[in-house]
Amino acid sequence: MMDSKVLEYSDQIKKLGIENTILEHPTSKNIDEVVSSLALTRSDSAATLIMKADDEFVAIIRCDDCKLDNKKVKKNLGIENLRIATAEEFTKLTGLQPGAAIYFNPSIKKTLIDKKVLEKEYIVGGSGSFSYSIKHKTKDLIKIPGSQIVNVAEKALIMTETKYSGKKRVLSGIRATGRLHLGNYLGAVKGMLELQNNPEYETLYMVADVHTITTPFTIEELRKNRREVIIDYLAAGLDPEKSVIFQQSEVAQHIELAFYFSSVATIARMQHLPTFKEKVKLHPGHSTMALLNYPILMASDILIYKASLVPVGIDQEPHLEVAREIARKMNQFYGTDFPEPKRFATKGEYIPSLKGEGKMGKSVEGSYINLTDSLDEIQKKIRSVPTATKAGGEMTPGVKTLFTFANLYLSSEVEKYKKEFNNGTLQFVTVKDEISEAIYKELQPFQERRKKIEADQSYLNKVIKEGAEKARAIASQTVKEVREKMGLL
Ligand code: TYM
Repeated sequence: MMDSKVLEYSDQIKKLGIENTILEHPTSKNIDEVVSSLALTRSDSAATLIMKADDEFVAIIRCDDCKLDNKKVKKNLGIENLRIATAEEFTKLTGLQPGAAIYFNPSIKKTLIDKKVLEKEYIVGGSGSFSYSIKHKTKDLIKIPGSQIVNVAEKALIMTETKYSGKKRVLSGIRATGRLHLGNYLGAVKGMLELQNNPEYETLYMVADVHTITTPFTIEELRKNRREVIIDYLAAGLDPEKSVIFQQSEVAQHIELAFYFSSVATIARMQHLPTFKEKVKLHPGHSTMALLNYPILMASDILIYKASLVPVGIDQEPHLEVAREIARKMNQFYGTDFPEPKRFATKGEYIPSLKGEGKMGKSVEGSYINLTDSLDEIQKKIRSVPTATKAGGEMTPGVKTLFTFANLYLSSEVEKYKKEFNNGTLQFVTVKDEISEAIYKELQPFQERRKKIEADQSYLNKVIKEGAEKARAIASQTVKEVREKMGLL
């Protein structure tokens, strides 16, 4: 049923002489989602910014593909101080939720309309509800009492370039703790590849070198490993023509935003995360502030690109929950438009350790297969998975591990193996060798590509440099927005 407040607002502006149509769309605070669901672009829609100009509140209407030039506004109004209204001020003035602004607010005496809004015949704007927008002729805007047309906004190339498409953003990262292992590949990289090759998504993939300093590390290893991860990414098929590939530390804005985010996250919440507790156990005497801040930096990595999808293994779910909480709080307190990011799961979202206990991970020697391992090495490692001498009975953790690999690599044989296991005829060594061969077959082309990429360091430098530039362009925009909304700009 139509929101009665929307109908009321529509009638109210009709009375002012602004004929309009109400458009329904999926409920969203994200402007890109809204315009794309209406088959429009940002240049067809406008937003009303409620701002505090010295002592008075003003409304400024600008196109959604433009950024406001604060200096021009100040000059135009002859004022010294200008900032976006806080969430509380906004709600008090308009009676609406932050982010749901409408053009006409009787409590606001002055409305500036940027002249670029008039470039199109029709424009779509807010209705006070996140499920409806209002369309009308742009020239009618001047009928808003106390309004004037001014030149106060500029087309924002970066925003339009990356957001016009209405594509959903994807971000993921892997720490620089060494070359990638099979768990990283099956749980994260496969998902990263799938989304990169889906034209509906815009993908950004980084090496999380700043996260690497949250646990003990050596300088030389860190420097080497972050390059190794990029080489692994490229060898696995991540393509700099399709994805932005970069080093986290080169986009310092991630760290800045993480600090702003830390103001809405509590110490207790961070201390209770299972990932924090595990790391403290693993590195006693190294429970640093950086480690406590790990999930906040991760939230910043994702939200700085307003990414809504994150291809990672299941162990990262608690961190994504934190990212969603931070997005909600920031939107609620400061009227930002962060999406609540979801995990993109692969079939291999949890790869068990080869030792029969826990997950495959770099921190446990003998638990993992490196993507660069030879067939011999893989065979040796898979053969070492603890299995009983005889099949049958309840599956031990080692046998379960074997079946996880069989499910992933020999899916057509699994039922047969299960039957053989149950009637005690399964030959573990045969299954183990078949699994090893299948893993190696998948890794062989990767290993060949890796050698070529490793030999071309200048190509690597170019990828890293260009990736950082592209990422920075988006990240700096978000940080600027947040600073404005938090009263820091
Ligand atoms: P890291 O380096 O610990 O793990 C990298 C990725 O590999 C996945 N993974 C696994 N998946 C399945 N089975 C396993 N045994 C296994 N082991 C590791 C992890 O789930 C992860 O996807 N915090 C992240 C790094 C990061 C990040 C981000 C990720 C920093 N900022 C922003 C996404 C978005 C991590 O755990 O890295």
